[in-house]
Amino acid sequence: MHSVRINELSNHAGTSVTVRGWVTHLRSSGKVAFIVMRDGTGILQTVLVKSAVAPETWDHFARLTQETSLSVTGEVRADARAPGGYELGIADLSIIGASPLDYPIQPKEHGIDFLLDNRTFWLRSPRQVAIARIRSELEQATHDFYYSRGFLRVDTPILTAAIGERSGLFSTEYFDEGNAYLAQTGQLYGEAAAAAFGKIYTFGPTFRAEKSKTRRHLTEFWMIEPEVAFNDTHDNMRLQEDYVSFLVQRVLERRGAELKEVERDISKLETVKPPFPRIDYTDAVATLQKKGSSVQWGEDLGAEDEALLVEDYDRPIFVMNYPKEAKAFYMKENPDDPRTVLCDDCLAPEGYGEIIGGSQREDDYDKILQRLREEKLPEDAYEWYLALRKYGTFPHSGFGLGLERTVAWIVGAQHIRECIAFPRMMHRLRP
Ligand code: 4AD
Ligand code: MG
Repeated sequence: MHSVRINELSNHAGTSVTVRGWVTHLRSSGKVAFIVMRDGTGILQTVLVKSAVAPETWDHFARLTQETSLSVTGEVRADARAPGGYELGIADLSIIGASPLDYPIQPKEHGIDFLLDNRTFWLRSPRQVAIARIRSELEQATHDFYYSRGFLRVDTPILTAAIGERSGLFSTEYFDEGNAYLAQTGQLYGEAAAAAFGKIYTFGPTFRAEKSKTRRHLTEFWMIEPEVAFNDTHDNMRLQEDYVSFLVQRVLERRGAELKEVERDISKLETVKPPFPRIDYTDAVATLQKKGSSVQWGEDLGAEDEALLVEDYDRPIFVMNYPKEAKAFYMKENPDDPRTVLCDDCLAPEGYGEIIGGSQREDDYDKILQRLREEKLPEDAYEWYLALRKYGTFPHSGFGLGLERTVAWIVGAQHIRECIAFPRMMHRLRP
């Protein structure tokens, strides 16, 4: 018998097919029973009529429980009232795997720690499936966007000797080579690759041993980092706004059902189109102080400041040209104000805050060497990086978009821990 997935049933109306999946709901009148099942692609209502099937088939119903895995065979019928628009009239049913009645996730409110402890099962719930599908759509859209623009995807190492960002490091012994660090960013390698290939992007896991228990920090997260030879900071922001808008429009076009499942107000996404407003850091600080923030010029912006700043806008904004001391060593000094660097943070609306950090890179050998020294970074680990400024230095720019933060904004999640299948946080290494 031809076996099909639930989201393919519309191609099989009027024919008999087999569907395999797991039980989500059961009800019976004694003569007619309904088994609602899921297979990861959708929800299907199936109907078992006592008088129409063999007695053994009817008897199986009594053994079904939530999450029993089963195989059903029967005719697909269009039914406007059924979830997904189709119903299956069961001719045959077999149980694949029983599920004891103590299945951890019950139709009631569970606390977040309990849900995270049972993440393997929590993942099966409709909201989690919808979030995972939107994440996957964003990943595919990313590849489509960069591929269509002629970027090369480069996979950069996870075990590294050079440090990219200021945040905490995970280290491990590496044979006779001393310590290896789990990559905080692929950027430094991305810069080398940009000189070889012109336009590149990386897409990989990155690690930060951050002792921050906020709703936007993971210790392992996925980052997309384009790097483009000869782009300046303005080209860089144009690429960011095109990319972010492309992502949002793609999800609106293709993941309407999932946005509905997570109850997202899509009118807040429909406005996400270029150009995004650009605000100088110095002006942002003045605006924030007027709004009552205690932020001082020189400091990085915190989550509350970011939320205050975006409240007047219906799309993401760029805050540009932060003070040198607030940002990483590799950012290019701003020729118009050397206290600042040519960088931008892209802040998502509705209080979601920074989803991208980007900058033009310091391409002057002496200046970047001086910055390395000021930051007390080990020069020998950066030898190859410095050499990029020695042999044919070139203006270049790039950025990193945090995937989980972007998913959280697009699905409207309160916390990014829901936006990756198996989150890693300070106090969570299992499952
Ligand atoms: O601003 P960040 O630290 O920039 C970089 O890593 C640069 N090397 C990027 C580049 O220019 N190629 O991080 C970039 C983005 C942030 O805007 C945020 O979305 C995400 O990565 N991010 C995190 N996401 C989850 N948990 C964390 N601990 C994160 N830290 C950064
Ligand atoms: Mg940042």
